[in-house]
Amino acid sequence: MSKSLFRVKPVEPAPHVDAGEPVEGSLEGEATLKRTLTARHLILLGIGAVIGAGIFVLTGQAAANHAGPAIMLSFVLAGLACAFAGLCYAEFSAMMPVSGSAYSYSYATLGEFTAWFIGWCLVLEYLFASSTVAVGWSGYLVSFLTGTVGIPFPAQLATAPITWTDGEFVRTAGVINLPAVLIVAAVSGLCYVGITQSAFVNAIVVAIKVAVIAAFLGFGVMYVDPANWTPFIPANEGPGQFGMEGVFRAATIVFFAYIGFDAVSTAAGEAKNPQRDMPIGILGSLVVCTLIYIAVCAVLVGMAPFRELDTAKPVATALELAMRADPTANLGWLKTAVEIGAIAGLSSVILVMLMAQPRIFYSMSRDGLLPAMFGRVHRKFHTPYVGTIVVGVAACLLAGFMPLSVLGELVSMGTLIAFATVCLGVLVLRYTRPDLQRPFRVPLFWLVCPLGVLSCLFLFLQSFREHWLIFVLWTLVGQVIYFAYGYRNSKLNRTPASPAA
Ligand code: ALA
Repeated sequence: MSKSLFRVKPVEPAPHVDAGEPVEGSLEGEATLKRTLTARHLILLGIGAVIGAGIFVLTGQAAANHAGPAIMLSFVLAGLACAFAGLCYAEFSAMMPVSGSAYSYSYATLGEFTAWFIGWCLVLEYLFASSTVAVGWSGYLVSFLTGTVGIPFPAQLATAPITWTDGEFVRTAGVINLPAVLIVAAVSGLCYVGITQSAFVNAIVVAIKVAVIAAFLGFGVMYVDPANWTPFIPANEGPGQFGMEGVFRAATIVFFAYIGFDAVSTAAGEAKNPQRDMPIGILGSLVVCTLIYIAVCAVLVGMAPFRELDTAKPVATALELAMRADPTANLGWLKTAVEIGAIAGLSSVILVMLMAQPRIFYSMSRDGLLPAMFGRVHRKFHTPYVGTIVVGVAACLLAGFMPLSVLGELVSMGTLIAFATVCLGVLVLRYTRPDLQRPFRVPLFWLVCPLGVLSCLFLFLQSFREHWLIFVLWTLVGQVIYFAYGYRNSKLNRTPASPAA
């Protein structure tokens, strides 16, 4: 038994693929995923998935409570861990252009048991992140409607019926978070009809949010008071509050802002020229987002004293504070634009996350670790439609009825474990299969891969210390499903176990 837990799916050098030519076949001779995405689509998908609640919601709280102006440093630290992981994702996704992302890479290097665990962690990343961001989206929309447009929206219909307070579930006055359910349902519908349509809508949304951020930077910089940047790292005020300790704590929180660049790798099965374009898509989106984040943070904490940014809408708050400080400042239009940009921005995050999850399930299903229905591809739309429906319904339920605040850090924990595993996988495969053709190679892999593992585990432990119980429970549920279904139905169970790669 212990041997079969570590059975490895042999990795074969990927043949060069051309537009429209599938690498992965669907189950039972059905339709296959379609190769239509270009490097530009992939970069935009990355930016679409990355820029969202992290910058529009979490930055202010992280600066106000943990890092102060050094929130910029926290973004650099989290970005560094992501850069190591991004390089490793680039190597794998060009070498194995399949939809399973970290799950498939682990299967090829560390064995089935680890691969299942990573697939299960990716559910935390994609499914829970899409629901968490949908709740953030709902908050932005309702406050925009009631505050800016003047259309009242009943609070009971924008609040989940339960919340998590002091370690237990508590009933709220809410009935359902309806806007969150509706956005998830609408985005799932888009994912159902096609990757090209989804990529097209994503491109429009990304253009809106990047334009709004550029306007914020361009106008906001005129209201920066450099005095707000000092002291850059405020003195420590307690555990995780300011000082270097606070900077690290904030790095764990804002790590959420980077989640999503790896979702590009789940589109590898639909990229026209994955060998060349996957590294461009992953690393390109990561570089663009990192630069945007550091610039936004610099302007944000420069415009207002950091302690005043402790709101759920810090970018809009900074503009309000600037207008209060200088009544001649005409920034009302920019505040409205920022709110619209955030609503648009959060919806593209939901879109890419909801695209990614069914594609992971698709790969797991093809390996026999999940039921065959997740491997079915729509004849007309060429999308993994059953997985898309199942994921959409699950995300609607989570977004509409569950208190998701506690799950935000779980999303980061699941992602960090996946990143660390991908870094380890690259290292292992360099030694076990040096012969494989690698269209993209991680530079100084003997340094970058261990640094990637260590930095991701370091950030993981910061959260794990506080939320270990819920993470352990999640892992145990995954184990039960694996042993009840995946272990027995694995395709590798039906073929002679491959020698360790
Ligand atoms: N990076 C994504 C966001 O910040 C998950 O919303």
